[in-house]
Amino acid sequence: MCGIVGYIGRRQAAPLILDSLKKLEYRGYDSFGIATLGSHIEIDKHKGRISEYAGGIRLNGTIGIGHTRWATHGVPNDVNAHPHMDCNNRIAIVHNGIIENYAELKKELAAKGHIFRSETDTEVVVHLIEEQYAKTPDLLSAVRGALPRLKGSYALLVIASGADCLIAARKESPLVLGIGDKEYFAASDMTPVLEYTERAIFLEDGDIACLTGNGVDIYQDARPVSRPVELIDWSPEEVRKGGFAHYMLKEIYEQPQAFFNTIQAVDKSSLPEFVCQSSSVTVVACGSSYHAGLIFKYLLEESCGVPARVDFASEFRYFLPPVDGLVIGITQSGETADTLTALRQARVHNCRTLAITNVLGSSVSRVADATLFMRAGPEISVAATKSFVAQLAVLMQIIDARSEGRYEEILLHAHEAIEEVLLMDLSAAVEQCRSAESIFYIGRGPFYPVALEGALKMKEISYIHAEGYAAGELKHGPFALLSPETPVIAICMPGETYGVMVSNIKEIKARGAPVIAVGSDGDQELPDIIDRFIPLPKTHPFVQVLTSLVVLQILAYQTAVALERDIDKPRNLAKSVTVE
Ligand code: AGP
Repeated sequence: MCGIVGYIGRRQAAPLILDSLKKLEYRGYDSFGIATLGSHIEIDKHKGRISEYAGGIRLNGTIGIGHTRWATHGVPNDVNAHPHMDCNNRIAIVHNGIIENYAELKKELAAKGHIFRSETDTEVVVHLIEEQYAKTPDLLSAVRGALPRLKGSYALLVIASGADCLIAARKESPLVLGIGDKEYFAASDMTPVLEYTERAIFLEDGDIACLTGNGVDIYQDARPVSRPVELIDWSPEEVRKGGFAHYMLKEIYEQPQAFFNTIQAVDKSSLPEFVCQSSSVTVVACGSSYHAGLIFKYLLEESCGVPARVDFASEFRYFLPPVDGLVIGITQSGETADTLTALRQARVHNCRTLAITNVLGSSVSRVADATLFMRAGPEISVAATKSFVAQLAVLMQIIDARSEGRYEEILLHAHEAIEEVLLMDLSAAVEQCRSAESIFYIGRGPFYPVALEGALKMKEISYIHAEGYAAGELKHGPFALLSPETPVIAICMPGETYGVMVSNIKEIKARGAPVIAVGSDGDQELPDIIDRFIPLPKTHPFVQVLTSLVVLQILAYQTAVALERDIDKPRNLAKSVTVE
């Protein structure tokens, strides 16, 4: 996915847009660019990150658009960076999404004599607008005339010489308008806009907005529509690092509050009936959100006896749809294309759908029958941490609602145990991991998806190969990979899985691999059979899932710091993957 931002008002646009793009870099950062409109269109764009660009951006004009890129079509370079312009350099656009039929459009337009400069799919859009703009002096009409030719997804911002306005159009990629005091903003999300206003309008699919210095008009198929102005209660301060070395560390430390806030925000008495009465549950999600769904499966089946199935959202389409029951889409960003597609398919099969997301106004809240919002606050770092813990808060509240409040007290105080483990000394484990060839994470029951999530965090930010496994599975092949250079992190908690976990650990030790065990404080057996022991507070299994997770997040963070990785913007990744 990419980040786009636009401005129209009384200020010089370029400095504001550049600052805004820095706040959107978590959406993609392989190249960036800005275009402004003064007496004419001026443009400046570069490969690489804004922070690496030593030059200054000197563009004139109080109307402007900007883009920070996560490449889908065309390698990252100055030419493929957005904005893109028409043949006569009179129109400039930025785009987030994918134009699926760009090849045929490019061929058609080139045959008409249009000159293409880049390899991107986006560039076909500006030439289509150019064709329309030649027929009408009205930029809004020109954009409206071009869009029906496009297949795929887009959040578009368009400016043009001779047009004292900024056009915004949305289809399946997020686009929000910021309503200032005689100045107006458009962006992929509210993160950069919060600096200037907390008043937001979330555009719907098919909306085209015309922003001028006097206000905003929004249309669907040329018909004026009105959209509510929402107040976003994230403060700009929350969005900034607040003194932490990295957003990821800040967000790890915010987890007790995030969990507590989300528990408070989910009113169990007003959960939709189809959420509390469904005879079965299917979860569709990706990455960390998928792991949250797996944890939910174990805890729901154990606590409520309700069968649950958890599918990778991208694979859901290849399975038989659930016969009935509830389909839950878990997505912190609310924009993950795979998850949105899976939920749409679930609706086609007449399943009732619930979304769990952290972002007000996100696409997923428009797709599902009902939405439960996490109250984790803005999560900037690419690696999911507090949003993951907040997802578990929502899911555990659903379990509690279906268990007559059996876990209420436990959940109301769970944040205290999270607080307790934030300051643990993991330096010995970090030393063991930082030079590892590969790292295996193992667990059983709900600690198996904890192992998966721990491995994802490690690989995502330290770049060390790490794999999560069901503990019983390691002997079925991966044992062949065990060596003194492949530490195994075993989550071994008291309960029905403890004994067999100890046996698995002994089998692993017998094959020469070092073992780091995450266990319960006071364990008398584990410390004697493993290399390093990480003791956690003795708590309820629900809480042990949370505290073991947080410890594995911190282990990944500290290992990545030791390896001097780019913690908040790991290579090749983006915060939300809005393409399939
Ligand atoms: C998690 O650290 C990763 N950033 C990634 O796996 C993420 O969980 C996944 O892309 C799903 O994102 P979503 O929750 O916004 O749908």
